[in-house]
Amino acid sequence: MASVKRIGVLTSGGDAPGMNAAVRAVVRTALANGIECVGIRRGWQGLITSDFVLLSRDSVGHILSRGGTILYTARSDEFMTEKGRQKAVGTCKMLGLDGIVAIGGDGTFRGALELSRLGVPVVGVPATIDNDVGCTNYTIGFDTACNTAIECIDRLRDTMQSHERCSVVEVMGRNAGFLALYVGIAVGATAVLVPEREIDFQRDVVERIQESRLAGNTHFMIVVAEGAGSAVEYGKRIRDAVGMEPRVTVLGHIQRGGTPSARDRETATRMGYCAVTALAEGRSNCIIATQEGGIVEIPIEEALQRKKSLQMDRYRIMEIMQLGGDAKSNVL
Ligand code: F6P
Repeated sequence: MASVKRIGVLTSGGDAPGMNAAVRAVVRTALANGIECVGIRRGWQGLITSDFVLLSRDSVGHILSRGGTILYTARSDEFMTEKGRQKAVGTCKMLGLDGIVAIGGDGTFRGALELSRLGVPVVGVPATIDNDVGCTNYTIGFDTACNTAIECIDRLRDTMQSHERCSVVEVMGRNAGFLALYVGIAVGATAVLVPEREIDFQRDVVERIQESRLAGNTHFMIVVAEGAGSAVEYGKRIRDAVGMEPRVTVLGHIQRGGTPSARDRETATRMGYCAVTALAEGRSNCIIATQEGGIVEIPIEEALQRKKSLQMDRYRIMEIMQLGGDAKSNVL
């Protein structure tokens, strides 16, 4: 334990509810181990520009329940260059950092890998509302984002039901449909469109609306992941194909804010604790990941190669929930 005297912590990439809980856990675990903790502001960019703040126990008080990140976040183009990374290494030396905890998604971890290759020990903590980090079952922020989207869609459903309309809702997920699928199941969507599954508009939207109608429904909820195409465009196509005037809602960044859920606070606290424990015990260049309930450390290089596929059994479950008891396609 003795050789680690001071560490840095940063948040990078898209923010996620629960990042603050992770920062708090990092700081308090470090202090409990006699390690000083420096907050690097604005992600990797802050390491280049020496934008930092010494974090005390009190400086992370009352942030557990706050969304966003008190350390700010950014996506740094400069850090992608050798020159930028050398500057970052210079800051680490100047501050006497024995390691860094980097909280973010895959982009953050690619930066972490590069920095570790230059001799700076790094431990990654996965946080993104997309849940699209291959090495871990769960990323901080996903649960809160699901709950936020569900709350919004429940409200939409009320008015869609009253007016017997079709709603097309776009949720975040540039490359991943986890959020769309989980939310789709939770709100009883008529159809869910995700980037991981090839979309056949007739089969996946038109026929699903028709089947839903046959099952007695008079309002419809289509959930579209951002990476599966524009909700506005799907709205137009539905109007032309089905003869309804859908209402389109893009939830956008509202899904990234808000007070973190119990799951996100608890997971972030455990992950932050495990990240500092790893550094304090001399382990680094790994990602803290959840696997079947437990927390494991996975080497960054290996972690970045891992892929996580969308659970297609969940997709089928979502579809089955919308079929009428006597619908032909209900026979499996
Ligand atoms: O945090 C991940 C994510 O929410 C993606 O789903 C989305 O495409 C992206 O961030 C948008 O981020 P920004 O608007 O900050 O570039």
